Amino acid sequence: MSDPRKLESRPFDGPLGAEVFGVEPTADLTPDAFASIEASLRRHKVLLFRGAIRTNERLTGFARRFGELFRFFEEGTEPGFPEILRVSNLEENGKPIGLTGTMELPWHTDYANQARPAKESFLEAVEVPGGGAAATSFIDMYAAWETLPASLRAAIDGKLALHRPKAEYDLADSTSATTQAQRNAIQTAHPIAVRHPETKRVALYVSPVETTEIVGASDAWSREIFEQIFDHVIRPENIYRHEWSPGDLMVFDAIGTMHHREAFAAGMRRFMKQLSTRCEQPLQRAEDRA
Ligand SMILES: [Fe+2]
Repeated sequence: MSDPRKLESRPFDGPLGAEVFGVEPTADLTPDAFASIEASLRRHKVLLFRGAIRTNERLTGFARRFGELFRFFEEGTEPGFPEILRVSNLEENGKPIGLTGTMELPWHTDYANQARPAKESFLEAVEVPGGGAAATSFIDMYAAWETLPASLRAAIDGKLALHRPKAEYDLADSTSATTQAQRNAIQTAHPIAVRHPETKRVALYVSPVETTEIVGASDAWSREIFEQIFDHVIRPENIYRHEWSPGDLMVFDAIGTMHHREAFAAGMRRFMKQLSTRCEQPLQRAEDRA
C-alpha cells in the first residue's frame, strides 16, 4: 500500500503537466492515495509516472478506477485485453501488431467523434526510439478557453461543432483499417465550449483534425473561426512536449487537453499501450455567461 502523504509532484517546465514521484499508480492504492492522484490530475491536466513496464492487469485496473473503459474488439489490441490498444509500428510475421504506424498524429482529443468521448487517456511507453523521436505534445484547453479573445468567445457562444476524423487522420496502415474506417465514419456534434463533468471547468473542445464545421454556419465562416481559434491555441508557449523513456506512464485529461504525436523514421521501433475512459454522458455545454 502506498502512503498518500508520499505523493509529490513537480510541474513540468511548460504550461501544463507534472511528474509525480513516490507512488506507483498501478499498485494496490488506498482510496486516499488514488484521490491524491486524481486531484493532481485535475490540477495539472497531464501526469507522468516513471517506473518499470506494468502488466496489462495493472494498467486496466488503474485506468478503470477513473471510469468505464473503451473496449476494442479488433486486431491491434493486447490479447485478452480489448481495453488496451497497441500504438506501434512494429510487425510480427510481416503484419503490424498495432495502430498508427510511424505517421504524425495531428492535434486531437481522443474519440471526439463519439457521443461519449474519452474522459481520461493513458499512455505507457513499452519500447520507444531514443533521441526524443516520436515525442507527444499537450495543450491545455481550459487555458485556451480562458484566454480566448472576447470577440471570438461571443462568436462561438452556445454553438455546436461537428467532429469526425479528417482524411489525414485515416489510419490506412493499421491492421484494422475497416474497423477503423467504420469508427471514423461516426460524426457527432459537441458544444464548442464544454463543461468537464466532474470538475465543471470549461474547456474549448475543438481540434484541427476532427472538428469539421460549426453547426448551422457556412463552411467559410466555420473555417475562419477555426483558423482564429487554432492561431490562438497552437503556439509554442502553450505546448508541453514529452520525450518518452520506457516505463513512462502518462495520464491526461482527455476533455481539457489536446495532444499531438510527431512522425518518426520507419527504421525506429516504438510500442505504446493506450487506454481511455469514456464519459458517462454526452458533453454538456458551458453556460459561460452564468
Ligand atoms: Fe490520441
